[in-house]
Amino acid sequence: MPGLRLFALSAYLLTLSATSQAAEAVTYKDVAPILTDACNSCHASDVAYGNVVLDSEDLLLKNKDAVLEAVSSGSMPLGQPEFKDSPEGQKLLNYLKANP
Ligand code: HEC
Repeated sequence: MPGLRLFALSAYLLTLSATSQAAEAVTYKDVAPILTDACNSCHASDVAYGNVVLDSEDLLLKNKDAVLEAVSSGSMPLGQPEFKDSPEGQKLLNYLKANP
């Protein structure tokens, strides 16, 4: 029954890819370009509105609680409340929640 075997194989592959996706942790390397695009024009060493600098992993994690609050409430990035629901926003929130 080649049809059945093919079905079993694709079900197996589907499970495999779902598992590896869930296990894949978001790293700072993944979120750095998001910060560059969405935050660093207003939050970097040269321009730091609200005295918030977000251009390194240490500084991002130091401001973790404020960033979580600002992004999940939709107040940051300024004027873009839809950011939190975008793939980039979700990635940033997941990274912050997973890191100390
Ligand atoms: C267009 C400029 C701009 C962008 C882009 C921007 N911010 Fe802000 N941000 C501000 C300003 C201005 C303040 C200061 C607000 C105040 O003091 O009332 C601020 C304040 C903050 C604060 C301090 C807490 C608060 O809400 O006042 C945090 C945390 C923050 N921003 C995070 C972020 C993050 C994370 C991003 C990107 C996802 C981002 N911001 C993008 C302008 C910006």
